[in-house]
Amino acid sequence: MNKKLYINLAVIIVLCIGFGNIKAQQPLVKLQKSNPISNRVDSLLNLMTLEEKIGQLNLLTPGGGVATGEVVSKDVEGKIKAGNVGGLFGVTSPERVRQAQEIAVKESRLGIPLLIGSDVIHGYKTTFPIPLGTAASWDMEMIEKTAAMAAKESTADGINWNFSPMVDISRDPRWGRVAEGAGEDPYLGSEIAKAVVRGYQQDDMRAPHTMMATVKHFALYGASEAGRDYNTTDMSRITMFNYYMPPYKAAVDAGVGSIMSSFNDIEGIPASGSKWLLTDVLRTQWGFDGFVVSDYTSVNEMIAHGMGDLQAVSAMSLKAGLDMDMVGEGFLTTLMQSVEEGKVTEEEITQAARRILEAKDRLGLLENPYLYSDVTRPAKDILSKENRELARKAATSSFVLLKKQDNMLPLKKDAKIALIGPLANDQNNMLGTWAPTGDFKLSIPILQGIKNVAPNAQVVYAKGANITDDAAFAEKINVFGPRAVIDERTPETMLDEAMKTVDGADVIVAVVGEASEMSGESANRTNLDIPESQKKLIRALVATGKPVVLVLMSGRPLTIVEEMSLPVNILQVWFPGVEAGNAIADVLFGDYNPAGRLPVTFYKSLDQLPPFEDYRMENRTYRYFKGEPLYPFGYGLSYTTFTYSDLRITPATIKAGQGTSVQVTVENTGSMAGDEVVQLYLTDLEASVPVPIRSLQGFKRIHLAPGERQTVSFTPRPYQMAVVDYQGQRIVEPGNFLVAVGGGMPTGDSQAKGQVVTGIFSVVGERTPVEFEY
Ligand code: NOJ
Repeated sequence: MNKKLYINLAVIIVLCIGFGNIKAQQPLVKLQKSNPISNRVDSLLNLMTLEEKIGQLNLLTPGGGVATGEVVSKDVEGKIKAGNVGGLFGVTSPERVRQAQEIAVKESRLGIPLLIGSDVIHGYKTTFPIPLGTAASWDMEMIEKTAAMAAKESTADGINWNFSPMVDISRDPRWGRVAEGAGEDPYLGSEIAKAVVRGYQQDDMRAPHTMMATVKHFALYGASEAGRDYNTTDMSRITMFNYYMPPYKAAVDAGVGSIMSSFNDIEGIPASGSKWLLTDVLRTQWGFDGFVVSDYTSVNEMIAHGMGDLQAVSAMSLKAGLDMDMVGEGFLTTLMQSVEEGKVTEEEITQAARRILEAKDRLGLLENPYLYSDVTRPAKDILSKENRELARKAATSSFVLLKKQDNMLPLKKDAKIALIGPLANDQNNMLGTWAPTGDFKLSIPILQGIKNVAPNAQVVYAKGANITDDAAFAEKINVFGPRAVIDERTPETMLDEAMKTVDGADVIVAVVGEASEMSGESANRTNLDIPESQKKLIRALVATGKPVVLVLMSGRPLTIVEEMSLPVNILQVWFPGVEAGNAIADVLFGDYNPAGRLPVTFYKSLDQLPPFEDYRMENRTYRYFKGEPLYPFGYGLSYTTFTYSDLRITPATIKAGQGTSVQVTVENTGSMAGDEVVQLYLTDLEASVPVPIRSLQGFKRIHLAPGERQTVSFTPRPYQMAVVDYQGQRIVEPGNFLVAVGGGMPTGDSQAKGQVVTGIFSVVGERTPVEFEY
């Protein structure tokens, strides 16, 4: 099923909401600030009819954003007046949001304000790198700041509820939504989940510049079969709890306000109707106290999963613990009948309505429905200089230097540079996938960035090749607008022009890779090579014998074994966002020393991976991969070098259930200041069940001047040493653990070079259950 295609996604629906004239009427309920949540919500619930409670469970989109499903809601205004709507998404600007809230507050019987949602995935108008890119920064402070900035901008535009972060673990680079998440590792993914939730919500969701986060897609969406976004998942409970669940749990522990259920089914039951998932795990085991929203018509899609008609699937979802129905209106149209027929209870509806009202209260909407409708804010808060500066920093910190050649980098600021490639002077692709609130026309192309940062450089430019020469493929990529434009000139003419352009240059910078929509929802690929049109260009550029820097743009790890074997430098830049060109130039010219590290494995070829249809973790991701990847998880170079020494583990023998402390000395042994990402990996050497070959259990991004040394400490906690049983219970077993600390994963080579140091600690005593906490 390809949702994107059958709704012709290209459509950016900008329907003005014809809300009509608003009659000034007073809401029946006036709520007092001093009341604690439960009283306020209780007093409201006492006044509500069953129909009004069901209305709170209904989430609609009148348009104004990118539609991600086939349905767009009708007669939204009438439904709000009738008390049939709990929230909207796709409505932006303080004026429009105020208009919508006024209808709810002044024209519906009880005057309950609306949740106003949106997909603010990597920045609002100030677009940051795609989430896989910010993950590559391994910089939690930076990630939190980008989320806080996104919240500030979106709340200025009226939005109070964000459908982000997506924390689904990516186990296969062919899956298109790899770009939207934090990569393949549960520990890194969990740290990022916490940072993003903190950034959006901060300590107080009632503050006008903070918003409610939604962790999604619950659960296991990154493992859907055959890489199809809306398919089945099936896996062992051990894999599930060890590998896929931690980031969702981390977000819950960080206080996330809402959770979005996923499209896929789990063990035959769709996630949106799974009581085991939405109640037993989420609420009973994990103590989640927010509300659960479905994905776009995911309740209706349970019909296709064979769960019955709309009435049956709606009842099943409500009973499972799903509180809000996105767009499908199954709750609105069938729950009343289900109550009459005894298929759901009034209490179940009241419970869901209570959770929605509590969310509104947490956001401060019950006190002030117009909290997010301040018309003076957009001019101050959106796309300010400060915001763009953060976007530039976030982009530079996300770049990963994959390969250095002949000390060519950084470039001299007065060099003669030939800038070549289909992405070298492009704005359309810079924001990356799923940036529906951004404006690509505001992005800085790389040609411009180079001129800004190095005004004395002599830069000549040629496109050199199309992103792809395949017209049918280009048409698919161009669903949201022109991303892969096929030039009117022949590929040969373009290549000739490029060859003439590089003549006389000291150095060639070639910007190549994917178009932005080659990754994202419904954008799975079976071939992860750089498209052939661009490979030909790269070969021809290298054949000139001139120094070449490849700036590689992609929403996923590509299979670049051929390019890696050429005498080139490679800088992986993902999709950098609105400040793309400036940030890339900062790194090329050495104003910023790159320190990003891969949050995903780069494989040599897809032959190294199991088929899409093989669902086991064996040989997937760095935790289980036994082969030699092209670039491992955690990898990244710098313009300087770092060495590690003096690994100390104290105590080196602990009782099961106790933690320990690991210290190491890191030194900048090169001649340039720079950041290093110090990583700690653990291997359980004597487990009773299959365990990962190694797993990341700590990291710190530090800054060191040339010659500077720093002692870095980690304190692995008991749950980080635990195996997971079938119930998801974590148990520490006696035995030895290998500790490796360094600038990447341990390999024979990295240890010989002093880039990784290792040691052992022992756990003694009985098998001991421990809390899975964050
Ligand atoms: C479908 C996507 O799966 C989800 O991530 C998104 O939040 C919703 N559509 C709403 O746009």
